[in-house]
Amino acid sequence: MKSFRQLCIVALASGMGAGAAWAQEQIIRIGHIGPVSGPQAHFGKDDENGVRMAVDDLNAKGFEIGGKKVRFQLIAEDDVADPKQGTAAAQKLCDEKVAGVVAFVNSGVAIPSSKVFQDCGIPMITGAATNPDLTKPGWNTTYRVIANDNALGAALANYVGKTVKLKNVAVIDDRTAYGQGLANVFKKEAQQLGVKVVASEFTNDKATDFMAILTSIKAKKPEAIFYGGMYGQAGPMLRQMGQLGMNDIKLLGGDGICVLELAKVAAGAKPLENVVCAEGGSSLAKMPGGMEWKKRYDAKFPGQFQVYSPYFYDATMLMADAMKRANSWDPKVYIPFLQKSEYSGVTARIAFEKNGEMKNPTYTLSVFKNGQKTALD
Ligand code: ALA
Repeated sequence: MKSFRQLCIVALASGMGAGAAWAQEQIIRIGHIGPVSGPQAHFGKDDENGVRMAVDDLNAKGFEIGGKKVRFQLIAEDDVADPKQGTAAAQKLCDEKVAGVVAFVNSGVAIPSSKVFQDCGIPMITGAATNPDLTKPGWNTTYRVIANDNALGAALANYVGKTVKLKNVAVIDDRTAYGQGLANVFKKEAQQLGVKVVASEFTNDKATDFMAILTSIKAKKPEAIFYGGMYGQAGPMLRQMGQLGMNDIKLLGGDGICVLELAKVAAGAKPLENVVCAEGGSSLAKMPGGMEWKKRYDAKFPGQFQVYSPYFYDATMLMADAMKRANSWDPKVYIPFLQKSEYSGVTARIAFEKNGEMKNPTYTLSVFKNGQKTALD
């Protein structure tokens, strides 16, 4: 991919004064798209930080591809968690011919955008969008470095049906590809374990008032509510559960609520203590390089860590590793090397199935103890 536009030459002063040698570096542009503004900005910023940290680390090390010095550059776009803005940003990155993309929090944005990247032949890796449908087409441009919702939904159903042996649950989803998809997996798996779904309700990903839904659910006396959605809704839901005296009912959910920010938006609501959530991957403490990486992240981006940044970091490093092995940043050339990745990252050892899903993904269940997210195992 040596178009004129991409062949930006960066001249570096050698520090040797007049007549000094100039080094030439090839700029390789990596795109990120995520909700860096709007109600899910905590997720979007954390993920963008992960990509930025990888780009900075690669550049600090002095990276070479095919014997040529390269410098990575991040092109960061905002999708505001909206599918239309996401696909427009994807098209923009296609038009700019970036070398690769590490992107997307929301499955509802990632799924239509993956088609845009397939059409322009640029690979995308997500470290956060978890709907299994993303990899269904089996395109060689779509990859995921974290467990999908089949694993998370089943893990939560097992917890309900086998670990705490509940009999009745209610289910609410936010009608996004993520929320509804995860709720459906959970329902199916829970019912197979003999758990009764006593109510199914839905809301949307902008709602903050759940009093009517919760009042109707309360009358059906479930022992737990499963919420397929994000922390921005789960927080007020917990506060309103408290107001309605639903303090003994568990609130279950996936990675969209399994985030430090939930404790803040729940603002001291008692039912926060009853949250059990599942996220893809291991806890930081159990990741191969989690704790040391987190220390460096916190120094660079104080107070911004949420959950997915180590996966975005690994995805970026893995993409650079595939380019290095391919001796090329041209997607056509490095995609076959990306498919055959065997990358030892901060989060895990990463290799891909034929459809772009991660091989042998793990998951973690967490609770909130004294407002702190704490892994169960
Ligand atoms: N994992 C969530 C999604 O796919 C955030 O939308």
